[in-house]
Amino acid sequence: MPCVGGYGNSAFGGCLQRRFGILKNTGIKKLIGGFTGFIWNFVETMEMKKIVAVMGSYRKNGIIAQSVNLISRRAKELGAEVKVINLSEKRVEFCTNCRSCTQVPGEKRGECVLKDDADEIFNEIEKAHGIVLAAPVNCYNLNALTRRLIERLVAYYYWPWGSTAPKRRFKKRNKKAVLLSSGALPSFLAGLMTGAMRALGGMAEAFGAEIAGKYFIGLAAMKEKPHLSDKTEKKLEALTLKLLE
Ligand SMILES: Cc1cc2nc3c(=O)[nH]c(=O)nc-3n(C[C@H](O)[C@H](O)[C@H](O)COP(=O)(O)O)c2cc1C
Repeated sequence: MPCVGGYGNSAFGGCLQRRFGILKNTGIKKLIGGFTGFIWNFVETMEMKKIVAVMGSYRKNGIIAQSVNLISRRAKELGAEVKVINLSEKRVEFCTNCRSCTQVPGEKRGECVLKDDADEIFNEIEKAHGIVLAAPVNCYNLNALTRRLIERLVAYYYWPWGSTAPKRRFKKRNKKAVLLSSGALPSFLAGLMTGAMRALGGMAEAFGAEIAGKYFIGLAAMKEKPHLSDKTEKKLEALTLKLLE
């Protein structure tokens, strides 16, 4: 086997052994093999991490957009591949409740009769290791732009006619999610007075994502051109790390 890298500890450790003729059957061999393997796996994981952020604000320079941009920038600096999906630039039709997508059993997302950008968005999210779901509160819940996508998530549920409730198609949670919302309210009232985090949590569940962290940016409607506070920036940086853990 040529010494041009490899996966896991044995390949890299073995490579050292062949190159330098050392480390024969010793504890040190195991130790170095294990250590190099750990580093190699770590680097590999960092290289491969794909993050998809769904930006559900109407404003390209608002608090939500700035938050998503910060996470995106930081994740890229840490070696992740990041794709930001700006919902306002996508064509996502309203769900018509036909439930055609919920009739066929199986783990695969049901096929929607509507042909628009929802498929492309879902495909990107399915390939991601981590997702950021971000949208502001309008009228006590997530804004209409984001809720339009949320209704289309019914394709991730099996719900044949005659059964009372939908069942999620797959149980495994194979990715992490960071949930972000913002509103005029102070953040401590967000849970009481808005359904935003619950709705974002529902999105994460449909995508099979475990929640790595969430943050509600309160008092976000005071200025026409708002800026992230230092505290919010720090919080978002910490969330980026959690997403990439
Ligand atoms: C039509 C409308 C309804 C709103 N309803 C609420 C609300 O119910 N609760 C709240 O905290 N903020 C509300 N807001 C304030 C927005 O949530 C706030 O401006 C937004 O979080 C800023 O996000 P952005 O900067 O990304 O646009 C509302 C704003 C608008 C324009």
